[in-house]
Amino acid sequence: MTETPALLLTPGPLTTSAATRHAMLRDWGSRDEAFIALTARVRRRLVELAHGEDRLVAVPLQGSGTFVVEATIATLLPPSGKLLVLVNGAYGKRMVEMTRRLGRAVLALETPEDQVPDLEALEATLRADAGITHVAAVQCETTSGILNPIEGVADIVARHGRHLLIDAMSAFGALPLDARRVPFTALMASSNKCLEGVPGLGFALVAREALVAAAGNCPSLSLDLHAQWKGFEANGQWRFTPPTHVLAAFDAALEQHAQEGGSEGRGARYAANHKTLVAGMRALGFETLLPDALQAPIIVTFHSPSDPEFDFERFYQAIASRGFLIYPGKLTVAESFRIGCIGQVFEADMRRAVAAVGEALGEQGIRNPGRSKAA
Ligand SMILES: Cc1ncc(COP(=O)(O)O)c(C=O)c1O
Repeated sequence: MTETPALLLTPGPLTTSAATRHAMLRDWGSRDEAFIALTARVRRRLVELAHGEDRLVAVPLQGSGTFVVEATIATLLPPSGKLLVLVNGAYGKRMVEMTRRLGRAVLALETPEDQVPDLEALEATLRADAGITHVAAVQCETTSGILNPIEGVADIVARHGRHLLIDAMSAFGALPLDARRVPFTALMASSNKCLEGVPGLGFALVAREALVAAAGNCPSLSLDLHAQWKGFEANGQWRFTPPTHVLAAFDAALEQHAQEGGSEGRGARYAANHKTLVAGMRALGFETLLPDALQAPIIVTFHSPSDPEFDFERFYQAIASRGFLIYPGKLTVAESFRIGCIGQVFEADMRRAVAAVGEALGEQGIRNPGRSKAA
């Protein structure tokens, strides 16, 4: 008997459509013409999604999102370069750590997890330190769900003539980022977030000029994005065993994304999911970490109830038994949990999820899940 799988209300992996999963039901030869055409189509579609036709190239890479973020930094940041990372959560911190391990110079400009980067401080830091060659920023910091002001960041970085690397992992395909308007050198994302493919593939959209200039920078063989790109350009093939089924699923997912109205249509569904979720959770008495103005419609952090009876593990299991998987918090500053709005989930699912949360609270006898009132 196959049980109905739970809906994944998490930062990923995410719920995919039956059509996307179905696309994995055949095997592909990596040198076969059909697979080469599939790779080319996916690469072209990714560039089109960012409106980067005249200056960006898509470089897919085997692995999860972290691999492509690390590959992009390792390839584009030369040994003589220095990276400034805007940090307001775990993914910004991870970029600092990767760069350090690469043995390259790195600086962090940090703000608390519930605050956006300080643009004045960014401006002042770039003005004061001419050695900074690159800036890295996260569009939606999935740690909290905050929407960072990526266009403002891009503006400042461009004005100071530095390169911007955008971790758009949990934003690309749902939140606007148009390469014709927003200047950046590279954007990194993956198959399994807002594009709703299955996990296993990351990709970078990189300014062709910068990639050409990055030949020989990368100290790693498998993470060398320049070499990966050269491989695609030479014969359309992947350098190493490609994740064939993942790519086939991604191609199907990109087709569905287009049919939904592209990033605008996808973003509208997520916004509706988000609205329904937050309204329902607030009606139950939960408090969001972020004010609405800072919240991206991707994943929402809720404060854990301060009622001493609250037990996250029991809460999680009670909701899981009703068909929804939620996620623990990743904040360093407050007890919290997260509920995602992305993947193949719809408003009706969010309403049912809120009802499941209400029942889970009831099982623990918690009548007021607020932070301060029960203390
Ligand atoms: C903003 C951001 N960057 C990077 C990552 C890392 O991706 P992965 O977990 O696929 O390695 C994530 C994962 O959720 C993310 O949300």
